[in-house]
Amino acid sequence: MRAVDIIIKKRDKQELTSQEIEFFIKGFTNGEIPDYQAAAFAMAVILNGMTPFETADLTLAMARSGQVLDLSKVVDIAVDKHSSGGVGDKTSISVMPMVAACGLPVGKMSGRGLGFSGGTLDKLESVPGYRVDLSTDEFKQQLKEKGIVLTGQSLDLAPADGKMYALRDVTGTVPSMPLIASSIMSKKIAAGAQAIVLDVKTGLGAFMETLEEARVLADLMVDIGRLAGRKTVALLSDMNQPLGSAVGNSLEMIEAIELLRGRAPHDYYEHCLHVAAHVLVLGQRAKDLDEGRAMAQKCIDDGSALEKLRVLVQAQGGDASYVDDVSRFEWAKYVEAVKSPRSGFISQVHARIVGEASVTLGAGRAKKGDPIDHAVGFLIHKKVGDKVEAGETLFEIHANDEKKLAEARTNVLSAYQFSDEFVPPLPLFYE
Ligand code: URA
Repeated sequence: MRAVDIIIKKRDKQELTSQEIEFFIKGFTNGEIPDYQAAAFAMAVILNGMTPFETADLTLAMARSGQVLDLSKVVDIAVDKHSSGGVGDKTSISVMPMVAACGLPVGKMSGRGLGFSGGTLDKLESVPGYRVDLSTDEFKQQLKEKGIVLTGQSLDLAPADGKMYALRDVTGTVPSMPLIASSIMSKKIAAGAQAIVLDVKTGLGAFMETLEEARVLADLMVDIGRLAGRKTVALLSDMNQPLGSAVGNSLEMIEAIELLRGRAPHDYYEHCLHVAAHVLVLGQRAKDLDEGRAMAQKCIDDGSALEKLRVLVQAQGGDASYVDDVSRFEWAKYVEAVKSPRSGFISQVHARIVGEASVTLGAGRAKKGDPIDHAVGFLIHKKVGDKVEAGETLFEIHANDEKKLAEARTNVLSAYQFSDEFVPPLPLFYE
């Protein structure tokens, strides 16, 4: 078998066999198939798609590219949650400690920024020292001892996804149903959680822009999860505008920490409580969503969720004083409040434009392995449905470069649309 023949077959819209997919993923993981062939393969998949069978084969091949953990030997039940990617989506950083504080162990393998969408690992690394490369043994031990793990793909867990993810980020091959489904589900399967809640985003700042596409992706991932013997549910949530206020790594980390002190923008707070409630129900700690929500709220009120985050940061080598004092986070050189050019109701804050502008500021990568600037980003003060007066602050830019700041000002202003008529707020969840 030759990699080039597999690429040609997909280029010519033919269905790949399980053996061909296994061969390609194995070769890519061990370095025999170079990045340029993997990038060509990803491009052929994005253009020509994959059948559900091919997608399931790709997922299982990527999950088996390293070890597949069996956490049932470590804890009674471990849960996981994953988002399909969006702008300002720091949900995992708040929800995982909430759930763990309710006594449900959470072991999660996250990703880095992907295209215009931020990544949990990049956000966590804005805390100095935080390690995202735990080995399998460290993963298991920490889950058992602390009840919470938030790490990245190590060389032992779904390494094929780690490599493919970094390539897709910089080769225009992110928004593909089979590539997203296999990327997310291979990590989930390898990390061993028995119950998985998927937060599938839809809208202008999601990889699946329409509700129909998001629903297909959600169904595909739920089917793969169940095929692999995992209890899996998917929520469809809005990503037309950034979630919460903060976009950018340190800024999002601060917002996620502040939520655990009970202080967060309403949409982000509600979103997290709802996701946490689902995780608690699926993990059999709560009998229904109302009870799950009340449990999640209680662990914010009594400080136990914040304490779990502190435990997590410390366990993974991070400086936990950042959790206690968010003013310690690195601050950008320039902070500018951008005013509204007119009065009216906000009818759009185009999430993708904001996400792309944050990458341009330095919060994301242009090339594989590029360093990122943790301090830069935006605080979005006015959201869809808000009434605004001319001259009021719409958003804040945090930048380390004056030219990039000017570019961001123009771009993010263009993300805003106004209406003279009342505009209702966007829903948080669709299904
Ligand atoms: N999250 C992932 O882990 N992979 C994707 O492809 C998109 C979002």
